[in-house]
Amino acid sequence: MPIITNAHPKGGAGKTTSSVNLIGEMDCDALDLDTLTGLSIILGLRPSNKLISVKVPKTVDELIDIMTPYKNSEKILFIDCGGFDSDLTRTAVAFADCVIVPSKDSLTERIGLMHFDGVLDEISTIMDKEITVHLYLCKVNPNKKNFPKLEAIIPSFKHIKLMNSRISSRAEFEEVIESGMGITETVHGRSTAGGKEVIALVDEIKSLLMNSSQ
Ligand SMILES: Nc1ncnc2c1ncn2[C@@H]1O[C@H](COP(=O)(O)OP(=O)(O)OP(=O)(O)O)[C@@H](O)[C@H]1O
Ligand SMILES: [Mg+2]
Repeated sequence: MPIITNAHPKGGAGKTTSSVNLIGEMDCDALDLDTLTGLSIILGLRPSNKLISVKVPKTVDELIDIMTPYKNSEKILFIDCGGFDSDLTRTAVAFADCVIVPSKDSLTERIGLMHFDGVLDEISTIMDKEITVHLYLCKVNPNKKNFPKLEAIIPSFKHIKLMNSRISSRAEFEEVIESGMGITETVHGRSTAGGKEVIALVDEIKSLLMNSSQ
């Protein structure tokens, strides 16, 4: 089954918060590549009957050993990367069946994306395959519809494409992860605006995975 990698080389883009929500909506195992191990700590807050296994490899060899069995398993492996470039992140991107990248329209995140597109070019050359990464708008104003600066730069990227789904900036996302849970796991959470965003993003990731395996 698939390996999904959530990566953006700039810190604070919203990777870990969205990872907790996406993991909460999918039946999957988790892998934490951040040196701060935020994902492991947050998922460790979950109630004992809802625990999720989180692996924290320290070397590329260890990461490959963990990822390999998932290629032939029923279970999805979801990987949350740290906000920096590293051999571990590059390996998780190279091996993934679907790579997603959160970003808002700010200059610093656009700079992060430009750097990431260059890294993806290097990985594509090494792996001898074209890597495509799917960008979801993250931490953006829920009412905002157009992101002209980001939309203008995306066509210049060789490896980054814009998704339809987004995870807007909402206080509820910050509040709910205090319990280690995703918003769709809370009572009535699936019918909230944030919950609907998480469900739509999971659906879009699953349809990308289906198309990539055909
Ligand atoms: N959708 C959201 N709505 C509101 N706040 C958010 C959202 N996503 C993340 N945040 C807040 O933004 C900050 C950074 O988020 P987070 O730690 O998830 O980013 P990250 O990309 O994992 O960072 P790092 O690169 O350091 O691992 C945190 O304070 C978090 O609570
Ligand atoms: Mg993080």
